Amino acid sequence: MTEPQQTKSSTTPSRRKFLATSATAATLAASLPYARVAHAQGSDIIKVGLVGCGGRGTGAANQALNADKGARLVAMGELFEDRLNNSLKALNPQGNRKEVMVTDKKGKHVGFDAYKGVIAECDVVLLATSPHFRPMMVEEAVKQGKHLFVEKPVATDPVNTLKCLAACEAGKKKGLSIVSGLCYRYQKAKQETVKQIQDGAIGDIRHAHTYYYTNLLWHRGNNPNWSEMEYQIRNWLYFTWLSGDHIVEQHIHSLDKIAWALGDKYPTACSATGGRIQRTGKEYGNIYDHFAMNYEFEGGITVHATCRQMGNCVSNVTDYVVGSKGTANLQSHYIQDLKGNLAWRQRRIRGDDMYQNEHDELFKSIRAGKPIYNGDYMCNSTMMAILGREAAYTGKRITWAQIMNSQQDLSPKGGYKFGPNKVEGVRVPGVAKLV
Ligand SMILES: NC(=O)c1ccc[n+]([C@@H]2O[C@H](COP(=O)([O-])OP(=O)(O)OC[C@H]3O[C@@H](n4cnc5c(N)ncnc54)[C@H](O)[C@@H]3O)[C@@H](O)[C@H]2O)c1
Repeated sequence: MTEPQQTKSSTTPSRRKFLATSATAATLAASLPYARVAHAQGSDIIKVGLVGCGGRGTGAANQALNADKGARLVAMGELFEDRLNNSLKALNPQGNRKEVMVTDKKGKHVGFDAYKGVIAECDVVLLATSPHFRPMMVEEAVKQGKHLFVEKPVATDPVNTLKCLAACEAGKKKGLSIVSGLCYRYQKAKQETVKQIQDGAIGDIRHAHTYYYTNLLWHRGNNPNWSEMEYQIRNWLYFTWLSGDHIVEQHIHSLDKIAWALGDKYPTACSATGGRIQRTGKEYGNIYDHFAMNYEFEGGITVHATCRQMGNCVSNVTDYVVGSKGTANLQSHYIQDLKGNLAWRQRRIRGDDMYQNEHDELFKSIRAGKPIYNGDYMCNSTMMAILGREAAYTGKRITWAQIMNSQQDLSPKGGYKFGPNKVEGVRVPGVAKLV
């Protein structure tokens, strides 16, 4: 598979450099599972750990086990035992799947520190909790020298996004593979479309517009036995400290696609609008249900991005990149010239499953000892989404420099324990400030 261009050209160390890194880290390597798996043959076991056993985590574990015949799920971590058990049941319904080595007696970790135990037991860890917890888990995995699959987004505020970036950079130095769950970059049809754009098929890029309009999402209700903290974590979509709001949690896919098409360029500033019209009840926490952003880029390029989560409205996920010679539809993989004629179309590529592709690449990179590093774009695209959110929440034009220097840290003041956890109300443009 052709890797996304930016991954190959700018961030993956050469084999030579990588071997040098391994050699200088010889003392470390002796104690790292990486040293074993990096030189493993096809028959060797790669121990996989999963943290966050929800829908995506369970899917990612399956994809990891399908990616390499030596992959074995040896540890699972969850905050809630019921979630872990449901996931284990889905992964191993009859209890006889040899790739799943977690049992009632072995490999289960529950609680806020579960991730530490999972990471200790595995060679590669899949991080799929709600986004707030990602930076501390990436840090721990890098500290323990483990390869990573990191779901998007990587954080929910600027301070912790930068913490995650620092951890990724340390992981890169250790020669770890860090593969992002920004899965569109692993869809071959999109890679071909981006290649067309970057090879000049639409001329000079002037503008892009991107939409993520979806229906209402799940809500897991309440339970008198749940503390405020448990209620929020179980319903994490609706709390900005946990999800980043839907612009960060979901629309990040669109923003990342545009940044990718532009050659991994990120905005210089953003002004935005947004609010909540349909999801106004207390059960919807403190997030908005719609956003519209005007991102500014170097060279006068503008990007208009909008997202909405509302019921009974049209759904639409599309991205257009507009150039001096034509327009590319990034989501549907075609290019039209200035008169609207079809200039290029990517045919359907059989078996092009982006979720599976990213795991195939991750395990191939581990086997080959050629680490993949997606750390930069997964952190930058998270920051781009946070920039849009903060521009909408405050009603102010915010520059990239301001968001990078923001002191906003949404971690709970009382630490991680079940009990009360007061969150701020819905932020009001013109009143809310960027900290
Ligand atoms: N790439 C994609 O297309 C895609 C699709 C869906 C979800 N996602 C991302 O995957 C992540 C998970 O989403 P989901 O839909 O599976 O949500 P989910 O609620 O189904 O699963 C998250 C799980 O993490 C657990 N968890 C929360 N905090 C934890 C902690 N501190 N330690 C251990 N476990 C903890 C929760 O109890 C829950 O079971 C999110 O970041 C989401 O944005 C990505």
